[in-house]
Amino acid sequence: MRLNVAILAAGKGRRMFSGRPKVLHLLAGRPLILHVIDTARKLNAERICVVYGHGGEEVPQAIGASDIALVKQEPQLGTGHALQQALPYLGSSGTTLVLYGDVPLIRAETLRALLDGQGDRVAVLTAELDVPDGYGRILRNKRGRIMGIVENDDATAAQRKIREVNTGVMALPTVRLPGWLSRLENRNAQSEYYLTDVVAMALADRVAVDAVRAPDARETQGVNSRAQLSQLERIFQWRCAHRLLEQGVGVVDPMRLDIRGNLDCGVDVCLDVNCVFEGDVKLADGVEIGANCMLRNVEIGPGTRIEPFSLIDSAVIGARCRVGPYARIRPGTRLEDEVHIGNFVEVKASHIGRASKANHLAYVGDATVGRDVNIGAGTITCNYDGANKHRTVIEDNVQIGSDVQLVAPVTVGRGATIGAGATITKDVPPGELALTEKKQVTVPGWKRPIKKAGGAA
Ligand code: UD1
Ligand code: CA
Repeated sequence: MRLNVAILAAGKGRRMFSGRPKVLHLLAGRPLILHVIDTARKLNAERICVVYGHGGEEVPQAIGASDIALVKQEPQLGTGHALQQALPYLGSSGTTLVLYGDVPLIRAETLRALLDGQGDRVAVLTAELDVPDGYGRILRNKRGRIMGIVENDDATAAQRKIREVNTGVMALPTVRLPGWLSRLENRNAQSEYYLTDVVAMALADRVAVDAVRAPDARETQGVNSRAQLSQLERIFQWRCAHRLLEQGVGVVDPMRLDIRGNLDCGVDVCLDVNCVFEGDVKLADGVEIGANCMLRNVEIGPGTRIEPFSLIDSAVIGARCRVGPYARIRPGTRLEDEVHIGNFVEVKASHIGRASKANHLAYVGDATVGRDVNIGAGTITCNYDGANKHRTVIEDNVQIGSDVQLVAPVTVGRGATIGAGATITKDVPPGELALTEKKQVTVPGWKRPIKKAGGAA
């Protein structure tokens, strides 16, 4: 059966109190509309059409995919009017599946079940809610057959007690749409052309209408407010955390994990609380991530441990390394196996060789560091001259004392040693000791000042 999907996304989202179109608000770091498009793609539809409107071209820009048909609805006169704008893209046969750009958790399985056996009939996905306020209510007759949908604002007090609601997801025979949509009227509480009115039209035309209850009401929830968005975020994250747990990942607390992208984990990976993973993160076997870490586009080798409060962005980290606590690894960094990066150490666009260490309070930027190097506490690569960045090269087996400044461009030769407090401006030959000694002076008989009585504190 030929299938087309129309995603309605033109609404303003007034209750978000935001300048941004509602469907561009982020769920798990991605615009709502992209979640819906991902799901629609899983259905092998012939065409996916997005109806946008509010927010101008921001929505098409965010979608950015050339295989999605984009139709502007201007002005926005209701869901029926929105679907009417998509008609030229939906062909003249088969099924049209209507999705909402602000219902991001709907699963492809649920949609497949709704579409199952779809012919010349209408199928409405419904949900049973404890608090149905705001939704369109499903009207059924004594035999349980659906008779129509009444919108919240048009419903009588008795109808408002109905807890079965319209989720907005509907499968419709495409051939019938031009006729039904052109006959919609806007004589209702919101002066809008309601798509929901096609249910009564279908029944009048003796077209079968099925109301199918969603197995899990949570996936049909829409985003109308920031509070609802935050609830859906937690549902989404809970799903991610449980998927990881089922795969054997040690998630210490599934309620305190945020994945905004793809997290790929090996065997015996352990994730402590309050970690955020963005973009593509790959953790090999036995990796442990301490509490309160943030990792973005990172690959980590087996057996490495990231200690708490570390921030790692666009880096590749080898096996059996130890990073943090309080480490900052910035883009373009590669740590080979067994590297140790300790507290308050920042590494940027640097390559650090096997088993090298920078354990305390250092800045290593634009550097190439060999293997078995020790970088002392407080050491800084001075990579920026105010206009340009320069590289520092530290060869294998170098020992750098504490509080050293390496003024780039500079090379420290293999096996060299640098004394504490040195400011290195010239290349250091291999195997030698470089010092820029400041002379220590002893001032005989010097007395510390004594606080005067009644003086300022
Ligand atoms: C709609 C349904 C209601 C259902 C609820 C589920 C109608 C008339 N009502 O109500 O039965 O319970 O969704 O969430 O269909 N949109 C457009 N153009 C418009 C108006 C809306 O594209 O002119 C889009 C919105 O961007 C949104 C969707 O359609 O993605 C639903 O619009 P919204 O205003 O949220 O509809 P509700 O009043 O909540
Ligand atoms: Ca809505």
